[in-house]
Amino acid sequence: MRHIIGAEQFTRRTLDELMKSARSFEKGKQNIIKDKILATLFYEPSTRTRLSFESAFIRLGGSVISTENAKEFSSAAKGETVEDTMRVINHYADVAVIRHCDAGMVARAAAVASIPVINAGDGPGQHPTQSLLDLYTIYRELGHLDNLHLTLVGDLKHGRTVRSLCYLLGNYTNISLTFVSPPELAMNDDIKTHLSEQGITFHETTSLEDGIKDADVVYMTRVQKERFRSDEEYQALKGRYVLTRALVDSMKEKSIIMHPLPRVDEIQEAVDTSPKAVYFKQAAYGVYMRMAILKYVLE
Ligand code: NCD
Repeated sequence: MRHIIGAEQFTRRTLDELMKSARSFEKGKQNIIKDKILATLFYEPSTRTRLSFESAFIRLGGSVISTENAKEFSSAAKGETVEDTMRVINHYADVAVIRHCDAGMVARAAAVASIPVINAGDGPGQHPTQSLLDLYTIYRELGHLDNLHLTLVGDLKHGRTVRSLCYLLGNYTNISLTFVSPPELAMNDDIKTHLSEQGITFHETTSLEDGIKDADVVYMTRVQKERFRSDEEYQALKGRYVLTRALVDSMKEKSIIMHPLPRVDEIQEAVDTSPKAVYFKQAAYGVYMRMAILKYVLE
């Protein structure tokens, strides 16, 4: 049985297969699943991840059951453990997509699951399916995944999407990374160690201007408000980096700007009309990649 828990589980070969499969769904091949049920269980807010998984499963021909505010509306509110919840969902669905507020909790659910479990974000841990759709976006927009310079900007400490993306990038050749963040929100050592082991060079800076000028991909993230102990701490760090139209014009001509969304204030709306801005397309590509992911775990 295949679970998707962390991005480190993927090999280049599987990534190639998923990319190919997403492309075929984008070209129109759909409706390949019958009589299957997807359960989505979200203990944290979501718009894109939950709805795109549900849209993907329905497009494949399946049906969906869902609890969108599982922290309050599932039996977790009564004190049920994630393991007991999973032991029950095992009998209600054929695949489960789970988002949890704490790192490691989706893995705990998977440990007692008799159906495939997909991690849709576990606190500040990982968000592997977002990084798969991020790769697919780069592939579709730039045409290749090797020989790239990516600049990751913002809350690299708590941002689970950038953490998962770094794991996936370990599968590609001639990748260089620039991390732009305040020192308080710098990328954690676990990821840096992994990158070094994979032979990926990375460079850290606090300057957005310097960080973006040679990048093929600028990946913006929001400061993860919900991960701070106090509002003061958050207020002190938010709004530090704002991508303006002038900054975008200083980027390489054939570069792209990505963001997992939701955006707060880190990309000005004036940037949206730039041909480099692909963040809404990125959300759209997500449906095709999630169709590929669902097919992969059900195979
Ligand atoms: C991200 C997440 O939930 O980690 N959103 C998403 O899934 N597209 C990014 C974020 O919330 O900042």
